[in-house]
Amino acid sequence: MRAVAIEGFGGRDRLKLVDLPIPEPGPDDVLVRVRAAGVGLWDAKTREGLFGKRSFPHVLGFEASGIVESAGENVADLGEGDEVYLYSGGCCAEYVAAPAKKVACKPASLSFEEAAGVPVAGSTAYQGIEEEIGLKEGETILIAGAAGGVGTMAVQIAASLGAHVLGTASPRNHDYIRSLRAAEAIDYHGDWVAAARAAARATASGGVDAVLDCVGGETFRRSFETVRDGGRVITIVAFGEEIEPGRGITHHAFSARPEQRKLEKLSEMFDAGELRVEIEDILPLEEAAKAHERVEAGHTRGKILLRVG
Ligand SMILES: NC(=O)c1ccc[n+]([C@@H]2O[C@H](COP(=O)([O-])OP(=O)(O)OC[C@H]3O[C@@H](n4cnc5c(N)ncnc54)[C@H](OP(=O)(O)O)[C@@H]3O)[C@@H](O)[C@H]2O)c1
Repeated sequence: MRAVAIEGFGGRDRLKLVDLPIPEPGPDDVLVRVRAAGVGLWDAKTREGLFGKRSFPHVLGFEASGIVESAGENVADLGEGDEVYLYSGGCCAEYVAAPAKKVACKPASLSFEEAAGVPVAGSTAYQGIEEEIGLKEGETILIAGAAGGVGTMAVQIAASLGAHVLGTASPRNHDYIRSLRAAEAIDYHGDWVAAARAAARATASGGVDAVLDCVGGETFRRSFETVRDGGRVITIVAFGEEIEPGRGITHHAFSARPEQRKLEKLSEMFDAGELRVEIEDILPLEEAAKAHERVEAGHTRGKILLRVG
């Protein structure tokens, strides 16, 4: 099968289109014939070796959509012919073997290409908003990096809960994030902390209850000036920062857990019309290096995908 793999860590020039044997699924796995795969900054970080050791050749990609070719003997809920999406390693290939617990039926309302852009960003946003922040109806949340893959999902999930959503993005993305149901779009090039505080003053809470930081660095650190006393700051980027914010503010970083139940919940939300996915571009598998370059530039609106089969 054709696959995008690396033989060692490094730059985009390490990405090669190679011919590898079709993976053998174990008893708890499904073998999926991949139709499309999503690309994210996590792929570039894996390629550079920032996510730890790998054995080589290492096939890249953490998310895909496709059709189940076969299911292991312990898999009861998925079978041959099911149209699925998954959050597991080795997705930039014509076939991937993945634990069934990281695979679910794709939203019926989405094409295979659209569905391939959902697993990582959707699972991260769902976990962040619902489980890590525990956002409630009527609360005010600031989503930093609202136009990106995770931000796009987070704005919509927060709005579906009945929260008042503020999002930061460049002006060219302001209409876009409003179309996702952000109540306010804030330019992060200006004094976005003051703008967020001002926008939140008139809301039910009178301040920003929570920040979901999808940017890291200075944005993460300034998030503490943005939230009200007792607010919470959750980041998916700034790991290992030592901060004592005071004012009763809590904070933590989290890594998304790939789980079937989250993918199933996302499918329900898509099919109920509560979510949509934004695809910036779909490239052929052989242009994986170009896809990495685009996500590394840091200004993708929604998702970049690879067409596989
Ligand atoms: N912890 C986890 O489990 C987890 C899971 C998924 C992702 N992540 C990480 O989370 C980050 C976001 O992922 P993603 O896929 O959403 O990224 P992405 O789609 O590549 O993000 C691109 C977006 O970021 C916006 N942006 C860039 N600089 C910004 C700033 N200073 N303030 C506000 N927006 C800014 C850009 O908007 P403009 O074009 O308008 O500038 C663009 O829309 C990445 O670092 C990724 O590796 C972590």
